[in-house]
Amino acid sequence: MSENNMKDFPPLKNDLILRAARGEDTEKVPVWIMRQAGRYLPEFRKFKEEHGSDFFHIVQSPNLACEITLQPIRRFDLDAAIIFSDILVIPQALGLKCEMLKGKGPHFPEPLKEPDDLERLKKNVVVKETLGYVLDAITLTRHKLEGKVPLIGFSGAPWTLMAYMIEGGGSKTMSNAKKWLYKHAKATSLLLQTLTDLIVDYLVAQVQAGAQMLQVFESHAECLSPYLFTLYAYPYLEQIAFKVKEKLGENSVPMVIFAKGATYAIQELSQSSYDVISLDWTVPVADARLQAPNRVLQGNLDPCGLYACKNDLIQATKSMIRSFGTKKYIANLGHGIYPDMDPEKVTIFIDTVHSYSESLNNETTR
Ligand code: CP3
Repeated sequence: MSENNMKDFPPLKNDLILRAARGEDTEKVPVWIMRQAGRYLPEFRKFKEEHGSDFFHIVQSPNLACEITLQPIRRFDLDAAIIFSDILVIPQALGLKCEMLKGKGPHFPEPLKEPDDLERLKKNVVVKETLGYVLDAITLTRHKLEGKVPLIGFSGAPWTLMAYMIEGGGSKTMSNAKKWLYKHAKATSLLLQTLTDLIVDYLVAQVQAGAQMLQVFESHAECLSPYLFTLYAYPYLEQIAFKVKEKLGENSVPMVIFAKGATYAIQELSQSSYDVISLDWTVPVADARLQAPNRVLQGNLDPCGLYACKNDLIQATKSMIRSFGTKKYIANLGHGIYPDMDPEKVTIFIDTVHSYSESLNNETTR
């Protein structure tokens, strides 16, 4: 499969994150930030005002999505870009209406209520047709990046998407969706497998379109018990990584799993086909290293650490790097950045990761 070569992308100038994701030594620790394109950036807010503020309109317009993806790359010394999109494009592709309400977040006017509602979902969704706009945005962005940094593609994970499709929006407990896990085992498996099959096609197509690394977001793992995770999250997560790599063969790219709140499952995930395990900020790093000695780790500064004053932020960032070490490590926050955060603090975070990790590396080689 040489689709990538056919697209003739500019040569990559900074492959730090790809080398780290493969477990290779790097001269400094690579860093990117979940939700690095978003409302905390004045240029993002201005862009939204100018182009109409509908979130999914931007996501569905490759030119606009590309421009927003590039905003943080222009401003910061980041080691990766992540395509501007959303995990909820998958439920939309399956025919469920989902809108982004200002100040409230995602809203499904007609969520799944009963197993019979699965009949409403579209069958045999063709990714290149239904989600072609994401693929076009990826190809365009890969060109516009001019090889500055790699481009990350992503998808929501089956359980997290199922939870949104049933809850119809955010929920603290996800109890409606969890009710399905306990009451409707057959319908649950059917839905999770439908999502898995589509996600596999979607991630493969993203790499063919130009994505150089993939992250799978299992953001609602925190609502599951270890028992439910093993039954309803892990098998589908593993299918995704295994099948995506199988289908891509020698064109495979590093894959990251972010299962937020799944501290209980790090050892299980270390047996999976993911190259990198992304940790939320509640995970003690030493424990994670013990449980996943064979994996690259990503994370995990408390996003609220960016509210601290400059010196405290520097200390917290240095402490994070000391606990992970400078090898088999990609720096990030433990979850997405918040809209009221100061972009200046992002600069401090990134610069500290780079300069401190480089100085630690120089000390050990001296
Ligand atoms: O990281 C990036 O810069 C890439 C873009 C990205 C967005 N959403 C943009 C976005 C990514 C990777 C996502 C993933 C996503 N979306 C997740 C997984 C990550 C996580 O947070 O756990 C989830 C759960 C969603 C669903 C979603 N989309 C929610 C809950 C919300 C509302 C959040 C809020 O703060 O209001 C969104 C909207 C969203 N997705 C925004 C952005 C920039 C804000 C939209 C706006 O401008 O109003």
